[in-house]
This record gives sequence, structure tokens and C-alpha cells, in this order.
Amino acid sequence: MEFSELINLAQNRKNDFFEMQKLGLHCNSGEFIPAGVHYPPITHYPDIEYKKMYENYIPPKDGLIDLYVHFPFCSKCCIFCHYPSQYNDSKENKDKYLNALEKEFQISLNNLGLKQFKTRSILIGGGTPTDLSSKQLEKFLKFFTKYTDLSNNPQFNYDVSPHTLIGNEGLERLKILKDYGVNRLTIGVQSMDDNVLKIMNRPHDKIQAIESIENSMNMGFQTNIEFIYGHPGQTLESWYEELKQIVQIETHEYQFYRLKIDAYGDQQGNIKQFKNNHSSLFPKPQDTIMMKQMVFDYLKTFGIQENLRRVFTKDKKYISKYAYNQCCMQYDQIGLGLTAFSSLRDRFVLNTQNLNEYYSRIENNLLPFNRGYVRDKIAQQRWAIILPLKNWNISKNRFQQTTGEKIENTQFYPIIQKLKEYDLINEDDRKIFLTAKGGFFSDEVVGLFYEKKFIPKPKEFFNEGPLNPYLI
Ligand SMILES: C[S@@+](CC[C@H](N)C(=O)[O-])C[C@H]1O[C@@H](n2cnc3c(N)ncnc32)[C@H](O)[C@@H]1O
Ligand code: SF4
Repeated sequence: MEFSELINLAQNRKNDFFEMQKLGLHCNSGEFIPAGVHYPPITHYPDIEYKKMYENYIPPKDGLIDLYVHFPFCSKCCIFCHYPSQYNDSKENKDKYLNALEKEFQISLNNLGLKQFKTRSILIGGGTPTDLSSKQLEKFLKFFTKYTDLSNNPQFNYDVSPHTLIGNEGLERLKILKDYGVNRLTIGVQSMDDNVLKIMNRPHDKIQAIESIENSMNMGFQTNIEFIYGHPGQTLESWYEELKQIVQIETHEYQFYRLKIDAYGDQQGNIKQFKNNHSSLFPKPQDTIMMKQMVFDYLKTFGIQENLRRVFTKDKKYISKYAYNQCCMQYDQIGLGLTAFSSLRDRFVLNTQNLNEYYSRIENNLLPFNRGYVRDKIAQQRWAIILPLKNWNISKNRFQQTTGEKIENTQFYPIIQKLKEYDLINEDDRKIFLTAKGGFFSDEVVGLFYEKKFIPKPKEFFNEGPLNPYLI
């Protein structure tokens, strides 16, 4: 598809964006307000008394959980990144973390009365969980597989940066991952434009990113590659050039993230300051909207479509099971490591973000969480709407199982009816789902189900229209 044709199609979405601003749904500054990943947002989780956190918690009947492990190490700091990490840290510090992490596995299993975690899916993330020597990587996988039951054949995914998968060292790491049962890699390519990669301060260039993808595919890993749009240095033209190259890459899944300037976690990265100093490098919000629409229209011509929010595949079976299980099925998920969270059926547990506090908790045989939230009835209903609606659809049966209530009988059903009038939501006997337009503005639509005090932007950011989140 030619550039001009793609731009023509994207113009329609730009008009929708202006209409959403008029209706009060989209904030007037055009900023992106990420929503629907956790509810309530992480920044609002209160301190919680240690004993209360797991009080009355009932593990799932089938014993299956989705497991996350966090590694807070990276070689350098990417400009867009909000995740807390240690940069270019020493071997000794990484060893210290590995020892504490192993102990956290033991404490956590003990807390749940288990010998092993029986896994439905696994995500090892960070940071860069491959920012370890081969020996350290093997040490981790050895104890990880000791404490984890893989007999359910889970999707076992590592979230990594390309520079750790290239050259002899990279091949050695890949072999170790394979030997221990890792079957999927998510590679943060971020951009196919070396100029943008430089602005991002990424530890790799385009050629190295391609090498890492080829290594991963050649070794038989299911491979997912991630990109950011709306980033400084990108224009509509340069994004078109990137898209042309992206679809040529042989892989299973493509993820496209709109640049987050305000994070939904506690830590804010350097990108805000960077914007203050280099605002001319940033695409305008309406151009970023067009970049997003270009992804849909261009990939469609290659048979690649959105099969989970912002996740594009030819075949639905390649989507991230971890994301699907957590956001759409709302199964119990346990997180271990610094900053990791556990998202359980009726509560959310958040590990500390402070490395010293993490070590001191573990030394004292305590789980390293310091904040959390046990949802009340209404918060549970909001959670059971926001996450599945944002990420795919609300199954009416599942909603009833999760909340004990029929969705039609809740205070939220009138909002759903109103959104139907604006062609943002639809429903049938079994489910409630976003339309194409609603899916495009999914972050803003699910924001309408937030309790007012959790809406990330103040009232004056929105027009006083019928879809204003403070007035609905
Ligand atoms: C947890 S990050 C880890 C990625 C991995 N360490 C790497 O650098 O390749 C997962 C993904 O979130 C996306 N991401 C991170 N920061 C972002 C931001 N500020 N805006 C949009 N997407 C972002 C990136 O595409 C990234 O690959
Ligand atoms: S994007 Fe990845 S490699 Fe870059 S700082 Fe963040 S976690 Fe580390």
C-alpha cells in the first residue's frame, strides 16, 4: 500500500480523535493516558499490614498459576523507559540478587503451602533478564526449574533486549534458554530506524536487532518483536519506512506500543524531562494517532491483525498467553523479584521497588511486598470490566463468576449502553466488546469505569461533553 493511500485512511481516525476530544472522552492535550493494565492504578496501592495481605486468600482449585520473575538489570538506560533498573552492574551484585531471588521462591512457596509452582504460563522480564553471564543465567534456570512444575507445558517466555542474543555469547545464552525449556522470546527491537534507536539510547542498532531475531527463529523459539511509535525522531514518513521493513521480518507476533510519557507505575523515566528540552523532536498527538492507524491498515494487507490489544499476529495462537491469562481470563498470577506484582482473583500484591528493602525483607524470611489492595465488591466489578474490556472482551459468564453479579444488574451497565450509542461498545448474548473505534481508543473508553479519584488526569483536561470521565 502506498504512503498516500495509508495517510488518507489514517485521516479518518484523526477526525475520530478530534470528535473524542469534543465529546470529553479524550483529554484536550491529546496525551496518551495508559489505562486498563491494572486496576486501581499501581500508584494508588496503599501500604498494607503484612498479615492482612494473604488473609483469607484461597489458592485456585486447579492449582495453576501464571508466574512472573523480575530482573532489575540493564546495560544502559533507554530514554523512554520507566522501569527501575540497575545499569551495568557488577557480577557480585547480580549474584547477590540471584541468591535473594532463590530465597524468595522458597518463602513464597512456603506462604502458599506448595512445593512447586504449577504453571499455566511464565514470563521472565525486567529490566533485561538476559543481562547476566551464561553461568548466572544457568544458575537461575536451575533453581527456577527446581521450584516450578512445567508439566502443563506452559508458554515460557523471556522478555529481552536484542544485544544479549547476538554473537557467540548470545548464541550460548540462547542454547541455555532452550535447554531449560524456554520456548518463546519477546525481543525489544523498538525501532527499525538507526537514528531513532540512537535517540532512544538503545544498546543495539538495526542490524544487530535483525541478527537477534534470526538467531531466535533459527533456534525454534516462538518469537515476538516489540516496537514503539510516537517516539522523538519519528515522522509519518519515517514510520511508513519502518512499517515496510517490519512486515518483511519473519516472526510470530508483533507488538506496537504508543510512547508513554507519563508512566502508570511509581517511577517516571527520563522521557518527560527529554520532552521539555527537545519538544520539537516529538510527533504531534494527531500524527501519533495516524501512526497507530497506519499499523492496522498496513499490516492488514499482509494478513496480520490485532488479536489481543496492541498485539498483531497472523494466527491467534501466537499471542502472549501470560497477558491473555492475566488481563482477559483474570487468573491468579504470582510475581517474584524487585518491583514484581501478584495479581490474584480478589487482590493485588506489590513488591518493594527498593533494592535494600528487598534484601532486608528476604533476610528476615518475609515476602518482599510492601503495598497491596484487597478489592471490595464495587472495585472488583470495575476490575472485571476494565481489564478484559480493554484487552479483548468481557465474557458475561466470567464476569458473574468473578463478581457474583450479572453485569446487567450493576451500576456500570448504563455506561455500557451509553457507549453503544457512540459506536464504541457492542454486545451480544455472551459478551461485551469494543468496536473498531472503541478498540482504537480503548485506554480512554475503559477510563470511564474508573472511580473518579483514580482518573489519571484532572478534570480541567477534558471538555464538558457527554463522555467526560468526571461527568458520566
Ligand atoms: C518491560 S519493557 C522491557 C523490554 C526489554 N528490556 C528491552 O529493552 O528490549 C517491555 C516493552 O515495553 C515497551 N515500553 C517500554 N517503555 C515504554 C514507553 N515509555 N512507552 C511505550 N512503550 C514502552 C517496549 O516496547 C518494551 O519492549
Ligand atoms: S527498555 Fe529494556 S533495556 Fe532499556 S532500560 Fe528499559 S528495561 Fe532496560
